[in-house]
Amino acid sequence: MPTETVLITGATKGIGLEFAKVFAGHRYNLVLVARDVTLLEQQAENLKKDYGVQVNTFAGDLSSHTTVESLHQHLKSEEINIDILINNAGAGGLGSMTDLDIKKELECLQLNMISLTYLTKLIADEMVKRKQGKILNVASTAAFQPTPGMSMYGASKSYVLTFSEAIAEELKGTGVQVSVLCPPSTKTPLTEGLAATGTKIFIKNLMEPEAVAKCGFEGLMKNKTVIIPGFKNKIMAKSVGLLPRKWVTIYTRKMIEQKV
Ligand SMILES: NC(=O)c1ccc[n+]([C@@H]2O[C@H](COP(=O)([O-])OP(=O)(O)OC[C@H]3O[C@@H](n4cnc5c(N)ncnc54)[C@H](OP(=O)(O)O)[C@@H]3O)[C@@H](O)[C@H]2O)c1
Repeated sequence: MPTETVLITGATKGIGLEFAKVFAGHRYNLVLVARDVTLLEQQAENLKKDYGVQVNTFAGDLSSHTTVESLHQHLKSEEINIDILINNAGAGGLGSMTDLDIKKELECLQLNMISLTYLTKLIADEMVKRKQGKILNVASTAAFQPTPGMSMYGASKSYVLTFSEAIAEELKGTGVQVSVLCPPSTKTPLTEGLAATGTKIFIKNLMEPEAVAKCGFEGLMKNKTVIIPGFKNKIMAKSVGLLPRKWVTIYTRKMIEQKV
């Protein structure tokens, strides 16, 4: 039986589910978190059957930070130590800030930033005490520049990027490694939903979620701080800093608004 455990938020679909498969394939026990309890139990059964690892589940809505406390309590009562934390759950709306439903967006900001930060803090404290552990936060290529047309989502992912880079530095020498994964548009239920708008970046040239999760796993194991899947995306992320910010913002708006 495996001895190390990975906690994955948003593990029932898309990139999170692929992370669960990659880690189970490398003989890690799993703790999976998502809201839909039926799908959560179904995916847990499939993973147990397919990989022979232990799978623990916690159903809860991470857009409330009190859920992070309940999840932490759940881990304590089940006596589970987390060796690797994957903060994957994330969401955000497409559209202009004034058109979007602000209540929904605030929940997304809470999920993408506040709950991610809180869970990172609670688990990192325990990892530091044990002098070992790894944390992978999922940002996006949207993190590297302003993203008109998904301004709040992009800004929340910029937070995930810089927060992760900062704590990676703070935790140097403690035995705890922090990485941040910046996927490009990826074929998942999230983008399948957004594809209905005809938006090109959610329809054409999408990366497969398996490839994104594999790249994230390999980067984490190599102790890379910032992990960007795909050569072209790495170049784009690097070149953004060399160009005038205003041009980059105007170009990004064009890209986000382009229809097929
Ligand atoms: N797909 C892309 O193009 C892309 C690109 C760059 C970055 N990313 C990032 O990658 C991560 C995964 O994206 P994805 O496309 O795989 O998403 P997805 O297909 O929408 O899957 C999201 C997962 O998170 C869970 N989840 C959503 N909201 C939650 C909440 N409030 N509390 C707990 N669990 C929640 C969902 O299950 P329930 O609905 O049952 O809760 C599901 O398991 C996100 O952080 C996203 O921002 C995605």
